[in-house]
Amino acid sequence: MANIGILIAMVSFLPTAYGQSQRCTVPELSQCVCIKTEVYCEDIGLTEVPRNIPNTTTALVLDGNAITKIESASFFGLPSLEKLSLRDNKISSIETGAFDWLWSLTALFVDHSTEIDVPTEVLTAITTLTNLTRLDLTNCRISSEDLNLLSGLKSLQHLTLDNNDISYIKPGLFNGFLSLYHLSLRNTSLTAVSANIFDATTILKVLIIFDNPLMCCTMTDYFEWLPNQLPYLVVAGTCHDFNRTTDIRIFNTSHCTFPVDDQWSSWSTPTCSVTCGIGTGLRNRSCDSPPPSDNGKECIGSYTEAINCSLIACPEPYRRRGKYYNFCLFFLLPSS
Ligand SMILES: *[C@@H]1O[C@H](CO)[C@@H](O)[C@H](O)[C@H]1NC(C)=O
Ligand SMILES: *[C@@H]1O[C@H](CO)[C@@H](O)[C@H](O)[C@H]1NC(C)=O
Ligand SMILES: *[C@@H]1O[C@H](CO)[C@@H](O)[C@H](O)[C@H]1NC(C)=O
Ligand SMILES: *[C@@H]1O[C@H](CO)[C@@H](O)[C@H](O)[C@H]1NC(C)=O
Ligand SMILES: *[C@@H]1O[C@H](CO)[C@@H](O)[C@H](O)[C@H]1NC(C)=O
Ligand SMILES: *[C@@H]1O[C@H](CO)[C@@H](O)[C@H](O)[C@H]1NC(C)=O
Ligand SMILES: *[C@@H]1O[C@H](CO)[C@@H](O)[C@H](O)[C@H]1NC(C)=O
Repeated sequence: MANIGILIAMVSFLPTAYGQSQRCTVPELSQCVCIKTEVYCEDIGLTEVPRNIPNTTTALVLDGNAITKIESASFFGLPSLEKLSLRDNKISSIETGAFDWLWSLTALFVDHSTEIDVPTEVLTAITTLTNLTRLDLTNCRISSEDLNLLSGLKSLQHLTLDNNDISYIKPGLFNGFLSLYHLSLRNTSLTAVSANIFDATTILKVLIIFDNPLMCCTMTDYFEWLPNQLPYLVVAGTCHDFNRTTDIRIFNTSHCTFPVDDQWSSWSTPTCSVTCGIGTGLRNRSCDSPPPSDNGKECIGSYTEAINCSLIACPEPYRRRGKYYNFCLFFLLPSS
């Protein structure tokens, strides 16, 4: 009976305590929920970042609003903010330096803020956040070019780039990302994940590459790199093996074939029309170095060629001797 009494006391106590902690005392945040140092202003139709956010705030969640602009002072005076979430807004501009006040920021979520048609602006604002450990850029219209702006964020541990049109990742983009353990590249139109985007070894634990048109046999360097990573690296995704879709974890590169283009042999020794001096000759070559395979390209050019052949000069002993004689005569005459 005593136990039931305690249970009832707890059940009736909990909602009250939770309800009290939910009220934000700052008037500008009257529609928001405050739990300790965390401020939640979700789905309340905000069109701009609210003012007078307490300077002790560690987490600010502004998801599901209609915020269109982040001003350079929007987050001024929030030195303790560690987590900022701007998911599902309509951001169309971010002023330079908007995030520069956030010295403690480690997690930033700007995913599905689909009005962002200036992703370069967003990423430029992010480049100064070199302490960022968590970044979600899902559905931010980021292109391969824009992605290069992330190269300085070497503290990142958890990076999500899903639903962007990233057909190519520059070699070395994640070099020096020594803490990166979770990378998600789902639905990004990548046709290959190349090992050269990472360091030779990483601490990567999760690599998500579902829903990409990956061609298994163009990723042989990745398949060679993979066994040198931590044994608990989990890769989730599929690749296309000709017409089949294969679980990337069990793909075996040994049955990949590679088109080999034909190459010309060197020219044969020409057959010359003369035995000495300058004549004409034919030389030929063949398209077999190497021979064609797996739909490789044919050689371009002709198999035979007419050339001028220049053999050793034909001997002309008589005229030479004459020239020598004339010369000696000319030399002797003035002295006599
Ligand atoms: C926050 O603001 C209060 C008063 O406005 C001030 O005393 C305090 O130092 C500030 N704290 C930080 C971390 O800036
Ligand atoms: C990163 O963190 C260090 C150590 O806390 C701090 O000194 C530095 O100012 C931070 N850098 C940025 C860009 O916030
Ligand atoms: C894939 O990403 C594109 C944007 O690049 C988006 O429009 C599309 O809805 C995404 N598909 C899925 C299945 O999420
Ligand atoms: C792939 O599928 C198409 C149509 O289903 C077929 O014509 C083609 O021969 C297949 N290619 C291979 C390499 O199996
Ligand atoms: C890949 O296939 C080859 C030939 O079929 C086989 O010898 C090799 O053991 C396979 N590798 C793996 C990792 O299954
Ligand atoms: C090239 O020409 C020589 C002599 O005309 C002939 O013996 C040889 O078979 C030719 N080679 C090719 C590859 O046509
Ligand atoms: C061969 O020599 C002739 C006469 O010297 C010259 O007109 C011709 O251009 C030369 N052909 C080649 C392929 O060098």
